[in-house]
Formats: sequence, C-alpha cells, structure tokens
Amino acid sequence: MSTAIFDPSGLEPRTATDEQRAEAPLARTPQGTWVVLGHEEAVAVATDHERFSSSVSRFLQVPNGLDGQEHAAFRAATDPFFSAERMQALEPTVRTIAAKLLAELLADVGAAGTEIDAVSALGAVFAVRAQTAWLGWPARLEPELLQWMVDNHQASRSGELARTAEVAERFDAIIRSVVAPRRALGADAPADLTTEVMQVQVPLPDPEVPGSRERALSDEEIVSILRNWTGGDLGSIALCVGVLLTAVARAPELAERLRLGSFAEAAAIVDELLRIDDPFVSNRRVTTCPVTLAGQEIGAGERVLIHWTSANRDERVVPDPDEIDPAGNAAQNLVYGIGTHVCPGRPLATLELVVAMQELLAVAEVHPAPTAGEREVAPVGGWAHAPVVLVPRR
Ligand code: HEM
Repeated sequence: MSTAIFDPSGLEPRTATDEQRAEAPLARTPQGTWVVLGHEEAVAVATDHERFSSSVSRFLQVPNGLDGQEHAAFRAATDPFFSAERMQALEPTVRTIAAKLLAELLADVGAAGTEIDAVSALGAVFAVRAQTAWLGWPARLEPELLQWMVDNHQASRSGELARTAEVAERFDAIIRSVVAPRRALGADAPADLTTEVMQVQVPLPDPEVPGSRERALSDEEIVSILRNWTGGDLGSIALCVGVLLTAVARAPELAERLRLGSFAEAAAIVDELLRIDDPFVSNRRVTTCPVTLAGQEIGAGERVLIHWTSANRDERVVPDPDEIDPAGNAAQNLVYGIGTHVCPGRPLATLELVVAMQELLAVAEVHPAPTAGEREVAPVGGWAHAPVVLVPRR
C-alpha cells in the first residue's frame, strides 16, 4: 500500500487534516514521522501502551514520558490532586477570579460594548490567575508567566531548538523559585498545593532503602510534575477560551444554553465545541516493535504523532464534524486523550472553562467582532487571535 506524504508542521491543523484525512487515516512526514489522522487509528495507538511508548524525549517528563509500572505509580500518586472533592473546594476561588477579571475588562464599557482578543485578554490572564491560585503561587508571578506564554509560543512556532530550550529553562527557573523557599522553610512551608506535591510519596521502591515500597520525589521529579501541570496547560486553557468565545459569538442560542444550563450541561457543550476545534493538537509516541496500522507496516523505533484535532473530526465516526451534538458525540470525544495517558487535568480544565463561560455570560453578551480572527498553526490549534465584542448586560 502506498503511503500518503503529509507534513502538518506550520499548517492550520483543522483545514490541513480535514483535507488529508479524506485521502488516508495515516500519513507520513517527509522526515519519516507517522501522522495518525483517523479516529479508530488514534484510539488504537493511544490504548496500545506496549507497542507505542510515550518515552519520546531525552528529558524527564513526569508522567507524560513514562511507560508501564513507573507511569502507573506516578499517576496513582498525582491523580488525587484532581479529585471531585478538590475541584469542588476550588470552584469558589476560580469563580471569584473569573468575576474579578471580567469586572476589570468591562469597567467603563458602554452599551456598544468593547472588542477584546479572547485568547490574550481573557484566556491567558484567566489561565495564569486560576493556575497560580490553585498551586498557591504568588500573584506577582503573573506578568512573568504571561510573558513566558508569549515567548514559549513564539519559540515552538520557530522550531528552533536553542530557543525552545532557553524558554523551557526559564520556566524551570520559575518553578524552582517557588519550590526552593518551601524546601528552606521545611515544616513552616505554606500549606498549599505546591507544598503538598513536594510531600508526595510515589509507590515505587526506594533504591536506598531495601524492602521499601514507596519513596519521596526528587527535586527533578517535582519540577517536572509542576511543569506538566502548568507549562503547556496555561496555553491550552487560553486557546480553549478563544475557541469557546468564537463559537458562542456565532451562535447566540448556544450562549443561552451555556448561561442557563447546569454545570454538567455546560461541560458537555464545552467538550463538544473543543471536539470540533481542538486546540491541543497532538502527542508523540515511538514504536517498541514492528506494527501494522491502517494497512501500513511500521518498523520498531519509529516516531508516531497522534493527531487529536483530526481524529476528533473523523467523518467515519462523526458524519458531520461541525454539527454540535454534545450527547451524541461525547463517546467519540478525544479532546483529553484516551488510554493510560488520558489527561489527569481534565476535571480542572473543565472547571476553569465552564466557570469562565458561566461568569462571562452572566455579565455580558458575546458578539462577533468587526476585526477578523487569525487561526493558529501547528503545533497548536484554535485561534491565535479571537476578537469578540463583549456587551455588558444591563
Ligand atoms: C483544555 C485543556 C487541556 C487539554 C485539551 C488537555 C489534553 C490532554 C491530552 C490529549 C493528553 C494525553 C496525552 C497523551 O496521550 O500523550 C493530556 C495529558 C496530560 N495532561 Fe492535559 N489537557 C488539558 C489541561 C490540562 C491541565 C489543566 C492539566 C494539569 C493541571 C493537565 C495535565 C496533563 C498531564 C500531566 C498529562 C500527561 C498524562 C500522562 O502522560 O499520564 N492537562 N492532556
């Protein structure tokens, strides 16, 4: 069978893959990476942890880059931070943050409303404030984190390794600036989530202690966990806000369903809008042995990219990918992945996104803006700039 050649880098992911997927559910870049575009194939790869390893980077990535028992141990140790009880306790804080930010954006705005970029003015600022409050980080980090998001985005777009490495190093320095004082304070460290993470025991034997069943985290592991909870996800939440606001500006009846519905109804609509335009585009794997996928022979040690944005729009499982059907499409939704690496942060992301939409729609109507939006390009999706007009409710 011949192999379709397709390189998604630098392309607007949704349009490019809609076209490419029609040709074949699996393609290959000129550099040899397999690009999984079909839904069935994405599920097959993401749920086959034996043959498709997540150990794709030479850097420590906890838990993203781990496999097997080691991965399971770190997930068991860190998943409880996203429990329903913890999310319930966090909700009032996230609501206050959203309400305060909206009050800032709508201060002195007249009946004609105000045009904002949903990604930078609302999404990014809200994401940074919500995540820092959740982690117990000082509010003074806000400008540094916002600047870091901009630089990180530009570095990944540039594809320059040195630039990406510099930005990653800068983020680690921010995390270390939060971890180090807590280490120094010991028992007097503030009682917050970051301190709790530092005290996690992972159910793996301590090589220094014969017969032990659990051990403390190393500083490298703590930094990696916190990096994975913040680094990429600040950007994802900001992009999701852009996607959601653009969608409701175009469909006022949807805004009403979000405004008046229950939390669960709103969450289902949010998930479905993100399925249609998934800004968290892809994740990598590497094969551990020869595999056959979509009729193609893939050798051992080959690179594979699971393209969630494309899989979520595969006409073979969602006949009209742009039709909004929260209940009908929920079972096929791959926005948060599938398999053992499925996103542990989903409850937090859902809380933040639903609360942001509810608080926004309670105080303002969202209308399309006269300014045209700008689509993102891979490695991320959604909107780079999502202009909308916010009109305060009287
Ligand atoms: C709307 C926002 C988000 C989206 C669309 C998203 C999506 C995803 C997806 C598709 C994966 C699967 C990765 C894979 O299979 O290799 C994933 C994994 C992960 N996500 Fe999220 N995520 C979001 C927000 C968050 C948040 C808020 C956090 C934490 C605060 C988080 C933490 C993680 C971590 C640690 C993993 C790795 C899990 C593992 O490898 O076992 N995510 N996410």
